[in-house]
Amino acid sequence: MFMSWASWLLAALTFVSVVTCTPATPNSKRQSGSGIVTGIESRDLNGNPFLRLEVRDMRANYPDQWNLYLLGLDQLHTTSQKEPNSYYGLAGIHGKPYQTWLNAPGISYKIGSSGYCPHSMALFLGWHRPYLALFEQELYARIQRIAEYASADQIERYRWAAYSFRIPYWDWSQGEQSGNVPDFFMTETTVVTTPEGRNIEIWNPLYKYEFKPVPSAGAFDGKWSQINTTIRWPASNSPWEESRQSEFAASFVNLRRQIQDQTALAFRQGTLNGFWEAIEMVHGWVHGAIGGGYSTGFGGTGHMWPLEYSSYEPLFWLHHTNVDRLFALYQAQNPGAYLQPSNVGSAGNVFVEDNTVVDGDTPLLPFRHNPGSFWTTNEAMDWRLFGYDYPETQSANTASAQATVAQLYSGSVRGRVAAGQTGGVGHHFMPGMEESSYTDWVINTAAAPLDLPPTFVVQFSLVGDFSSDASTDVGMWSVLMPMDHNKAKRSLREAEKLTKRATAADMTLHGTVSLTSSLLDQIDAGKLQSLDEQDVVPFLREKLTWKVYSGDGTQLSDSSLDAIRIDIASEIARIPSDPSAPIEYSNDAIAHSEVTAGKMGGAS
Ligand SMILES: *[C@@H]1O[C@H](CO)[C@@H](O)[C@H](O)[C@H]1NC(C)=O
Repeated sequence: MFMSWASWLLAALTFVSVVTCTPATPNSKRQSGSGIVTGIESRDLNGNPFLRLEVRDMRANYPDQWNLYLLGLDQLHTTSQKEPNSYYGLAGIHGKPYQTWLNAPGISYKIGSSGYCPHSMALFLGWHRPYLALFEQELYARIQRIAEYASADQIERYRWAAYSFRIPYWDWSQGEQSGNVPDFFMTETTVVTTPEGRNIEIWNPLYKYEFKPVPSAGAFDGKWSQINTTIRWPASNSPWEESRQSEFAASFVNLRRQIQDQTALAFRQGTLNGFWEAIEMVHGWVHGAIGGGYSTGFGGTGHMWPLEYSSYEPLFWLHHTNVDRLFALYQAQNPGAYLQPSNVGSAGNVFVEDNTVVDGDTPLLPFRHNPGSFWTTNEAMDWRLFGYDYPETQSANTASAQATVAQLYSGSVRGRVAAGQTGGVGHHFMPGMEESSYTDWVINTAAAPLDLPPTFVVQFSLVGDFSSDASTDVGMWSVLMPMDHNKAKRSLREAEKLTKRATAADMTLHGTVSLTSSLLDQIDAGKLQSLDEQDVVPFLREKLTWKVYSGDGTQLSDSSLDAIRIDIASEIARIPSDPSAPIEYSNDAIAHSEVTAGKMGGAS
C-alpha cells in the first residue's frame, strides 16, 4: 500500500521535473530576467482584464485553472534558486537574504543590512502591488507553457484556461462568512489533473516551500538557516519542530471576527493613508495566524510571522493578493484617493532613508516600470494596468463599490444587529424607526518605536470575575518590522532610556483597535448592561488590561509599557435599514481618559 503510493508520488514528481526541464515554447515574448514588471496583456472577449479569483472559487468552479495553478507553482518552486525569477528569487526580494535584486541597488550603505519591503510606512500598499504583479507574470508565463502539453483535442480548452489565469486570493476578511482555513492549504500532498488528463499526486505547493538549499547562516539568521522547509506554528523555536496546521486553523477561527472588525475600521478611514495604517495592522494579524508565534504560550515562530522570511511561505501570495483586493476596493469606494506625503520616521529600508518624506511619486525599488525607471504608487493606482481585476471591483461604478463595502465590510456588529443578537443595542431601537443606533467603542494606541522591539504586539484582555475565570482576549495592536531594524539607534536609545522616558513626541506609531463586538459578547454573557457610556466606562476601568510581547513571543516587562499610550474613545453609530448603505458615525469621538488613567500606559 505505502509502496504503491510512494512510487505513484515518485512518478508524479518525475513528471513535474520533466515539465520543468523542457525548453520554453510558445507565447514567450516575456521579458524574463529584465526585472520589468509588465503585468499581463491578455484580455477577455470584451477587452477587460481577467479576474483574480477567491482561491476556493477557483478550485470549485475553474478546475483547469486550478490544476494549472498548482502545476505552475510546483514548477516555480523547483526552479533553481540562482534564478532571479524562481520562487526563491522572487520571495527573496521581500526580506532576507539582504541582497539586491537584479540591477536595482537602493541606498549603497544600507545594502546587505536592510531589505526592500516597506512596512510601517505609507509605501506598503503601492509596493506590494507591482510585487504581486511580478509574481503573477512569472507564474503566468510558466502556466502558458504547461498548457501546451494538452492533447490536440484539449489544447484550446487548456490554452483558454491558461490565457485567462490570474493569481487567486484568500479572503480572510469577512469573519464567519470567510469560513475556516481551506483544507487544501494544510495537506502535504495534493492530486492534480495534468493537461494530458492524468491524475497525479504532487507535494502541495500551498503547504510549504522547500529550500534547495536553505541559505547558510549569515544570509539567514539562527534557526532560519537550519529549517529546510517553511513551517507554521512550530511548538518551539528548535529547528526540528513540525509544522502544525491545527494551530493555524484554530488561530484563524479565533481571530477572524477581530480581523473582520479591523477591516471594517480600515474602510471607515477618510484618507488612503488612514486606510493603509489600519489595513497594514490587520494584515499583520493574518501573518501571525498563519505563522504563529505572536504571543507567549503558543510556542515558536513559523516563517510567515517575521518579515525577513514571510514571503517564502506559500500563503504569503494569497494573503497579500487579498490585501491588494481590499486596497482596490477602497480605491473604488473613494475615487480620487491618493497617497499624501508622510514621514517614514524610523521605518526606512534599503531604498528609503529614515526620517524622510515619501509620497505617491517615491520609486518602488526593485520593480522596474521600464528600463529607465521604477514603478511609483501613483503609477500603480490603476490596478487594471497590470492586467487583472477583482470580482468586487469590476464595475467601475463608485456607488456600487460603496454598496459592496457597506455589505461586506460594515463589521460584525451590524451583522449581529441584523441577526437579532443585539445585546444592549436593542433598547436603542426607536419605536417606528427602521434603524438602530449604538455607542461604538475603540482603543486608540500610540508607541515610541525606539523604546520597543521592532516587532511587537499589545494584547488587550478583560480580566475574569473570579480567579478561576479566565481572562478574555478582546483585540490586539501589532507592529511588524524586521528584527534587526535600527540596531544602532536602538542601542543608543537603550542607554538614554534610564534617564529619559518616552514623551508624546517619541510616540510616532499609531493604531486603533475595535472593541464593540467584544463588549456585545459581555452583554450577551450578562456581565455588562449596555453599550452606553455609564455602563462601559466603569466596566473597562475595572477589567481592561494589556500585555506587550516582542516579535518572538516574549512578554516585555512593565517598563516597556512606558513607551505605549492607550486611550479609549466612543462615538455614536447609526445602522441604516438599507444594507447597502454604510453605518453612519457621528464623527465626534469622545475620549475617555478616565478608563486608562493611572494604569500602565494610560494617561498619567
Ligand atoms: C536540513 O537539511 C540538511 C541537509 O540534508 C540536514 O543535515 C539538516 O538536518 C536538515 N535540517 C532540519 C532541521 O531538518
